[in-house]
Amino acid sequence: MDGLPKLDSKALPSRRRMLSGAAALAAVPALAGWASLDIEDVGGLAGPGGSHHGAGAGQPPGTRPTGLNNHGGHAGFAGGSVPVERAGIDPSSILYDFDRGRTSTLPDGRTLREWDIVAVDQEFEIAPGVMFPGWSYNGRIPGPTLWAQQGDALRIHFTNAGAHPHTIHFHGIHRAEMDGTPGIGAGSIAPGQSFTYEFDATPFGTHLYHCHQSPLAPHIAKGLYGGFIIEPKEGRPKADNEMVMVMNGYNTDGGDDNEFYSVNGLPFHFMDFPVQVKQNELVRIHLINVLEYDPINSFHLHGNFFHYYPTGTMLTPSEYTDTVSQVQGQRGILELRFPYPGKYMFHAHKTEFAELGWMGFFEVSAS
Ligand code: CU
Ligand code: CA
Ligand code: CU
Repeated sequence: MDGLPKLDSKALPSRRRMLSGAAALAAVPALAGWASLDIEDVGGLAGPGGSHHGAGAGQPPGTRPTGLNNHGGHAGFAGGSVPVERAGIDPSSILYDFDRGRTSTLPDGRTLREWDIVAVDQEFEIAPGVMFPGWSYNGRIPGPTLWAQQGDALRIHFTNAGAHPHTIHFHGIHRAEMDGTPGIGAGSIAPGQSFTYEFDATPFGTHLYHCHQSPLAPHIAKGLYGGFIIEPKEGRPKADNEMVMVMNGYNTDGGDDNEFYSVNGLPFHFMDFPVQVKQNELVRIHLINVLEYDPINSFHLHGNFFHYYPTGTMLTPSEYTDTVSQVQGQRGILELRFPYPGKYMFHAHKTEFAELGWMGFFEVSAS
């Protein structure tokens, strides 16, 4: 049937083909060299001292996309993370940037929260020398993390300033016409048009929103997504250090695969700017996977374990682990304390994603 992918390994995107076997690597002399080097030098994943800056053979993981792809598309990429001023995205500030909206009180006493969200076409330098022609909500990838309390009334004033039709599809419980699905209610919002999504904040949990225009994959992959957190009415135990991490990817050279992976928008950022935490404090992480093209993403923490609350919809954790996997749209809450000071890696427990940007550090200072 037309449109069905063929299960032919030669038809796989070249990055996957390259990773699929030594024979493929050997067929490309330039890659055979670093492939053998790579086995010894697992770089940042090796453990203490294995930061990507310390890959002494001159092969920081960040250089791998160039070699791996063999597309010639990233000739300018020299590894490392791009300065946040150049990117226009700051993953460290996104950790803590909970947008509670403009609040007022309705006649029935409930809190009304309102946000203005604008879809814009914008190019981002997501890695040094790598430009990504993105579509964003409010000029950032991921979009703003919307925060509300269970039962609040929400109004999201959406304007499409991009060149393509878009929507905002929220995960949550609401009427069909507020779902941001093309063909239902206002449906697709045309360029230049606006629409106000209006619904109540329920159920509590860690959620997300994203564009639902078809073809869906590029509308998400281009950057139209963000976190959506609904706090239980009675609250959660107060965390000392509460943050959001949105896992994403970037398809920078076409096809249907990603060349870069990140948390909060910039590959390798948290290698250069570790997440700062204090020994023994309660750390709460809202972890959201919106990664397009790859079926599964994951989060692995070194030197520690965490309690995991899937979707954040229960007040008791379901798992005590150091690794969790999420498909696209899955999310959850991680809670933990670091008993010892020092630097601890966190990364996708999919080595390929880690090496293409999805890795970072927690830096624990003595209390
Ligand atoms: Cu869209
Ligand atoms: Ca690609
Ligand atoms: Cu979704």
